[in-house]
Amino acid sequence: MSEKATPDDITIQRAVKVLSDGGIVAVPTETVYGLAANAADATAVARIFEAKGRPSFNPLICHVASMGMADRYVQSSPLAKRLMEAFWPGPLSLVLPLRPDADLASAVTAGLDTLAVRMPASPLMLELIQATNSALAAPSANASGKISPTTAGDVANSLGERIDMVLDGGPCSVGLESTIVGVDDDAITLLRPGSVTAQMIYERCGIMPSENAFTDITAPGQLLSHYAPDAAVTLNVSKRVADSFHIGFGNCQSDYNLSPTADLNEAARKLFNALHAANASGKPITVSPIPETGVGIAMNDRLSRAAADRTAS
Ligand code: TXA
Ligand code: MG
Repeated sequence: MSEKATPDDITIQRAVKVLSDGGIVAVPTETVYGLAANAADATAVARIFEAKGRPSFNPLICHVASMGMADRYVQSSPLAKRLMEAFWPGPLSLVLPLRPDADLASAVTAGLDTLAVRMPASPLMLELIQATNSALAAPSANASGKISPTTAGDVANSLGERIDMVLDGGPCSVGLESTIVGVDDDAITLLRPGSVTAQMIYERCGIMPSENAFTDITAPGQLLSHYAPDAAVTLNVSKRVADSFHIGFGNCQSDYNLSPTADLNEAARKLFNALHAANASGKPITVSPIPETGVGIAMNDRLSRAAADRTAS
C-alpha cells in the first residue's frame, strides 16, 4: 500500500467547489473512502444513489464537523452526547431521532425519522465539511454490495467515471467502516460492529450495547450478502489450499497475510485490501480463522457477509 498522501490546497479547494456546485466527490476518511455530497442538495444526493446503484430505501450516514453541528440535524439524549464526547471525532455513527427542521434532502434518510450521524477523525474530511458548511452525506465509495474501498485506486476501479472527483489521501488508517449504534434515553443497540467495540462503549459509558442487530431498523448494509467478491469465499481455513487465494492471519503460508504477527488492528486495516487483491486473482478465496475479540468481531462480521450465499439476499 502507498504512503499517506496529502492533497495540496488547490486540490482541496477544487473538491470544495465540486461539492458546493452539487457534485459528488470520493473522500478519504479514517475508516473507508466515502462518496460525499452536500446532504442538503437533493440532486447531488440522488447522484450518490445512482453512482453506487444503491437501493433508495437504504439511508446514508451524515458527516458533521462538531457535536454542535450534529444538533442541527438530530435530537441527542444525554446518553448520545456522552457517546459523542467519548468517541468523536472517530469511527462511531449514532442513529438518532431526526430534527423535523433539519436541512437535509429527504433521500438521505430514505424516509426514516432517524438519521445516522458521525464526526470523522480525518482532518481532510473535517475541512471539507467546514468549508461546505453543511453535513456531507457519504456512504462507502463502492458499487452497492461490493467490497468497501480503502484506497483511491479501489474507488476508481469500482466507480470510475460515475463520480466527479477522487481525493487521494492514501490508505485509510482504520480500514473498516464505522461502528453504528442506535441510542435511546438509556439503551444502546449495536447495528454494525466496528473498531469501536461494544466493550469499549461499556467501559466509557457503563451501558453494554445490546447485540440484536435486527430491530425494526433494517438496511442492506445489515443484510447477509454484502462486500461480495466475484469468487466463492470460504472462512476458517487454517492452511493454504492449492489453486485458491489464501488470506492468512498470523504465521502461515498465504497469498496475502493480514498480519504475520497476528495484530488485529493491522489485519483490520488490510482486510478490504486483501479482499480486493483476492478478487483480482480470479481464484476461489480462503481465509484464516480470525479471533472473535476486539476489532476481530467486526472483521468476522464483514467476512461472514463476504462469504454469505449470494442468493440469500
Ligand atoms: O465508516 C463509515 O461509516 C463509512 C464512512 C464513509 O463514513 N460510511 C459507510 O456508509 O459505511 P454506508 O452507507 O456504506 O453504510 C452505512 C450503513 C448502511 O448499512 C445503512 O443502511 C446504515 O448505515 N444506516 C444509515 N442510516 C441509518 C438509519 N437512520 N438507521 C439505520 N441504519 C442506517
Ligand atoms: Mg458500505
